[in-house]
Amino acid sequence: MTVLVTGGAGYIGAHTVRALSDASRDVVVLDTLERGNRNAVIDAKLIVGDIADQKLVAKICRKYKITDVVHFAAYKAVGESMTHPMKYWQNNVASTIKLLETLISQNVYRFVFSSSASVYGTPKSSPTTENESTKPESVYAETKLAVENILNSLTTAGMTSVSLRYFNAAGASSDNKIGEDWATSQNLIPRVMRALLDEKFKFEVFGNDYETPDGTCIRDYIHVEDLAIAHVKALEYLESGGKTMACNIGTGDGTSVTELLEMAEQVAKRKVPHTIGARRDGDPVCVFADATLARKVLGWRATHDLRSIIESAYNWHSTNPNGVR
Ligand code: WQD
Repeated sequence: MTVLVTGGAGYIGAHTVRALSDASRDVVVLDTLERGNRNAVIDAKLIVGDIADQKLVAKICRKYKITDVVHFAAYKAVGESMTHPMKYWQNNVASTIKLLETLISQNVYRFVFSSSASVYGTPKSSPTTENESTKPESVYAETKLAVENILNSLTTAGMTSVSLRYFNAAGASSDNKIGEDWATSQNLIPRVMRALLDEKFKFEVFGNDYETPDGTCIRDYIHVEDLAIAHVKALEYLESGGKTMACNIGTGDGTSVTELLEMAEQVAKRKVPHTIGARRDGDPVCVFADATLARKVLGWRATHDLRSIIESAYNWHSTNPNGVR
């Protein structure tokens, strides 16, 4: 019952590898290390290679008797996907198709997919359920939805899958062994940490004139360890005969940028240096999850609150300013 984790040397992948090992699962990681870090892979075998290398993947399936796959390997920068679309269609979709072909040829039929709440685009309402219409607003989000649709069509080939639609993953491992590298992230929390810890860094709030109580955008920030456990639960669901589905993985709580800054200042016991700038194109005003389905079907719920997320991020970035090395 060995689990193949593609992209397991990345931020969320590495936390999931640890959660799987903690659940006594044998894990093999396949990662090109193009954007991952080998030192983030703990308690698992790492094979450096590409999911599109069908000979390699077939050999791994046979040698390690792979029964389940958790698929993270993809590019995930929304902005980059708009300036380099073909890079995203190739890596996130074409390579995933090759991976799926190989898995089916090797009789591997259980697949957990790292999807994203960005498939909803700007949802009509929040909390957002899985019934919300999907209206991707970036190539990155389109590639995530494309893979979901491919997976829905593979039930006829005997493959069952769970597409986990992440809201905003953040934080670091509670034992401070792995976390994000702020040099490679455009996301809010790593940049707030850098504003606190790197005096040369200029942090800007992208607009405070939105139609929200304090004028800043609202998101659903979920601890990366909670997110990791959702993948373990999704595998257990499939192994118990669960049917193909997509489900939101979020806390169900909306937090504004201002509220997040206030929490960061409480944790760091000082002000977050920042300026107020213009809105960022493509930013939805308010997106947070209705996570009822994950609770009912996967038996999963978030356990870390915002303070825990910020404390783990602050602890990590204070002691690892250059990420995992
Ligand atoms: C959050 C809020 C910004 C940086 C993206 C992807 C999504 C997922 C998570 C992969 C927004 C504001 C941010 C800054 C700011 N990625 N902000 N100053 O855009 O909600 O989601 O990352 O799955 O697919 O779309 O996350 O952290 O970039 O932004 O004011 O320097 O923080 O405007 O309101 P986002 P984010």
